[in-house]
Amino acid sequence: MSWVADYEYTWLERIFMRALRTCGHIPKHVAFVMDGNRRFARSQQIDKIEGHSRGFSKLADCLRWCLDLGIREVTTFAFSIENFKRSSEEVEGLFNLARDKFGKLLKETDRLNQHGIRIRVIGNIELLPLDLQKLVATAMLTTEDNDKLFLNVAFSYTSRDEMTQALETVLQQSNNSISGSNISERLLEECMYTRHSPAPDLVFRTSGETRLSDFMMWQLSGSVLYFSNVLWPQITFWNFLASILAYQRDRYRLDKFRQAEHIRSAQLAWSSDFHSEGVQQFLHSMDEDRRKLLVRLASSKM
Ligand code: FPP
Ligand code: MG
Repeated sequence: MSWVADYEYTWLERIFMRALRTCGHIPKHVAFVMDGNRRFARSQQIDKIEGHSRGFSKLADCLRWCLDLGIREVTTFAFSIENFKRSSEEVEGLFNLARDKFGKLLKETDRLNQHGIRIRVIGNIELLPLDLQKLVATAMLTTEDNDKLFLNVAFSYTSRDEMTQALETVLQQSNNSISGSNISERLLEECMYTRHSPAPDLVFRTSGETRLSDFMMWQLSGSVLYFSNVLWPQITFWNFLASILAYQRDRYRLDKFRQAEHIRSAQLAWSSDFHSEGVQQFLHSMDEDRRKLLVRLASSKM
């Protein structure tokens, strides 16, 4: 199963897709919380890991729909740090699935390059087994020149961990290029894993759960939240379409909120000297350090 499905649209889906593309406002960034894989597996009397594997196939369909609709960025919650508490059998099964999918990804880089897809794994990847760290680092470096669709896979991720990491990064630099008066929301935001992404416009969670579960809590403050009872492996084009329509209905309020946030953020940046040479140098070297870590992981001997 490829990361981007060869999805065969029905004629009705094709008509709706075209109408949506030409008439409505398309979100730039959509986030998916893929929930309900195990309930699906139970309902079908299949193994849990087969449920997760079917979930991956749906992610590939979603990516195809997003690509065809002109969505530029997709973030998906694939493995929470909380998921380490699941049985070792399930955790190992999920890691094996990830090994398989990232391994296949490296074999289909031509296809990803053709679509211009850049993969970014966001999360605390150093908590993962070493071979998986190497695989995800290689996948990120291999696709780093692509810029048509950004796929952020949240793997070994929680929002609280992301915020803690951001604060640690800043504190390591304090008394050096950063002083206390430089610390602001704007600076912390730039130290998140999502530093190079706009905030999601829409987040879509399946399975009837109406919680964020420690996913992008910083970034989602102004996003349209869409919840559906469908279990993730059963998601269809029509569920996806319903989420986009919900976004189109609610986006006016979102725009107002964003405008106010934009002004507030500019004021914060000004009052905390965000644009000073020291702060910008710090951010630049943080990017370099993050890339160096990927190069080190990708070239590590197994
Ligand atoms: C939540 O359903 C889903 C997960 C914890 C894993 C999702 C992972 C995938 C779909 C595979 C992605 C893999 C890659 C490499 C991107 P759940 O287990 O919480 O199910 P439940 O809510 O029914 O218990
Ligand atoms: Mg769940």
